[in-house]
Amino acid sequence: MKSTLLSLSRSIKTTITLCLIVWAGPLASAEAPANKYQKTVESDIKRFSQFFYNKFSHVKPADFKDGIYAIDAAAREQWIEIEDFPPYELSIDDGKELFEAPFANGKSYADCFANGGVGIRQNYPHFDSKLNEVITLELAINRCRTNNGEKPLKYKKGPLADISAYMASTSRGEVFDVKVPNEAAYAAYMDGKKFFYSKRGQLNLACVDCHVGITGQKLRADIPGPGLGQVTGFPVYRAKWEEIGTLHRRYAGCNKNVRAKPFKAQSEVYRNLEYFQTLMSQGLAVNGPSSRK
Ligand code: HEC
Repeated sequence: MKSTLLSLSRSIKTTITLCLIVWAGPLASAEAPANKYQKTVESDIKRFSQFFYNKFSHVKPADFKDGIYAIDAAAREQWIEIEDFPPYELSIDDGKELFEAPFANGKSYADCFANGGVGIRQNYPHFDSKLNEVITLELAINRCRTNNGEKPLKYKKGPLADISAYMASTSRGEVFDVKVPNEAAYAAYMDGKKFFYSKRGQLNLACVDCHVGITGQKLRADIPGPGLGQVTGFPVYRAKWEEIGTLHRRYAGCNKNVRAKPFKAQSEVYRNLEYFQTLMSQGLAVNGPSSRK
């Protein structure tokens, strides 16, 4: 009897150990493909980034996080000087203060986010499988507010951009790690991808025409930067804006440049576009906030 129990207990132990091994496998291995959707997207990412590695073979892959300054050597020098006394510093300080201030109900932003909202930028945007939509960091900040009885903030600039800047600053150097958990997430990704490749506006140009096709070539006064690493530095302080602004503000600008009607910041279209673009920049480091011309 005793030995039967002993062997039963042993076999349970073995089963548990086996379960743990099987369970720990995917968690432990960083490159384990989660599902077929993730796998498909990963092969898209490879092809997309390889294009830029080939085109700009002198650029270190990790440097694509610097946007236009990865490929424009003259502008890069100036930019590095600016980054020595970064014009977005104040935004980070203001953002931290806003982030730490409690809401009227006594709760705060920290209560809404994993790890108290610190060092999590690299996981945004993410696909929420219950709500079936892409959640960007800015959307999550405002949902945190409204869930706690506070008014939402404007999406393009001001306090929300400051909070986003502060949160990005706590993730600097962390590598973007965005997942495509299921079919609905894949559909959102495909929607963003379609947007990136679709011609629009009176000039009939797609994002891909400038940021892949003629990236690195002079277009009037500007050089369109590489589509790889386009989102990693946001929010950005732009000299042209004389303040900090969010990615969706920039999206609206690039839509207007081709004389197309921009979409609303945090509209589903722009969130899906951000999802696609961040996936294409998967593996690059968060370096927001940053400065731009
Ligand atoms: C007519 C060419 C053109 C088209 C079309 C265009 N852009 Fe741009 N875009 C530019 C130029 C030029 C810049 C400034 C240089 C840079 O940072 O790439 C820019 C900048 C950006 C930036 C800022 C990058 C940074 O690091 O600050 C983002 C993001 C961006 N574009 C996204 C898009 C998206 C998304 C589309 C499609 C909806 C698009 N662009 C369409 C020319 C274009």
